[in-house]
Amino acid sequence: MGCAVIGCGNAIPDLEIDNDQMSLLVDTSDEWISSRTGIKTRHVALNESSLDLSEEAARKALGWDDGGYSERSIDPEEIDLIITATLTGDVLVPSNAALLRRKLGLKNAICFDLNAACSGFVYALNVAESMIAASATASNRSPIRRALVVAVERPSRITNWADRNTCVLLGDGAGAVVLEYDENRAGILSTFLANEDDIHNALTCPTPLDVVPPFDADGVNTAQDIIDESHAAIDEMVEIEESLAEGNPRNVLRMNGQRVFKFSARAMKQAITEVCERAHVSLDDIALIVPHQANERIIDFGARHMGISKDLFKLSIEHRGNTSAASVPMALADAYNEGQIKKGDKVIVVAFGGGFTIGAALYEA
Ligand code: ACO
Repeated sequence: MGCAVIGCGNAIPDLEIDNDQMSLLVDTSDEWISSRTGIKTRHVALNESSLDLSEEAARKALGWDDGGYSERSIDPEEIDLIITATLTGDVLVPSNAALLRRKLGLKNAICFDLNAACSGFVYALNVAESMIAASATASNRSPIRRALVVAVERPSRITNWADRNTCVLLGDGAGAVVLEYDENRAGILSTFLANEDDIHNALTCPTPLDVVPPFDADGVNTAQDIIDESHAAIDEMVEIEESLAEGNPRNVLRMNGQRVFKFSARAMKQAITEVCERAHVSLDDIALIVPHQANERIIDFGARHMGISKDLFKLSIEHRGNTSAASVPMALADAYNEGQIKKGDKVIVVAFGGGFTIGAALYEA
């Protein structure tokens, strides 16, 4: 008995930007980007919201629309849980999951969002599986038999488009899976989650918390304080607008690429090794590894260091870029659509990202 993946879908924004177009924006070239990252094009959501992309991916995973993998069409009442992994929802409240619940009419679902940066989907999968497993064996839990796990990202909204170190890497999109408890299937065989301190702040993005609370250290304020604070807030806004005009916005992703690269390559190997050991499965028995699509060279490095063929890894970075938490379910949907996953295959999903976060799951399709 286990928690099986019974549906998977993705959504890709219409606008596709190639490396030559990026080289009109910053000092870069198709040659540099392709050889250092494996990326040729990425998609930018100009007209699609995070909710739009989530909805499209979810509808395919639920078997409501064509273009995804679905073992059957799921009734709206059958979904008990929605988790969205995202850094870039349209609004802070309601959560993306709550908006999706309303949009799709999933009226029995409890829902929330989760932030584990690029590992968000794998974390959400772990949480959903744990909640389903707990409710299957204990009557004192909320009954959860089926979950919709969505990852959606629009990094284009937190990108400094003047910074060639980051803007060439990222892309927008969404992916979704449906998980179902099934007495007759093995489903998820093992999981692994781990965190490390990002002591050098190699990957950061501030939140725009702009309101200045009207209190001093003693909890007292005077009318003058409020006036001063609002002047300070206005000055700050002007400063932000000026820095935006200089192409140097504040609330954007900043990255030390080499530190992230070293962490990611090591983390991927660790997570894959752990899920295999925990499931007592050899790497020889794995049909496909679907990794976070951060950089093709991280996958090259991982394959070399694990002594396995790069062909074992699903790659979709070439025309997607790094879509953060969405990259794993987007690539997984591609793998299903391209017939790379068959019933009974053992599949690993693995991700690593800001925090630092590391996660993997091994399941039988
Ligand atoms: N075009 C041309 N030159 C560039 C570009 C660009 N787009 N970006 C950086 N450079 C330059 C740098 O300025 C530097 O120039 P300098 O030597 O004159 O200072 C030179 O290229 C080398 O820079 P490095 O950072 O050393 O380049 P590196 O070979 O490490 O490649 C990269 C950079 C691709 C970011 C790499 O470090 C990497 O892939 N890191 C992994 C991080 C990642 O994938 N992050 C994604 C988000 S986080 C995540 O998903 C986990």
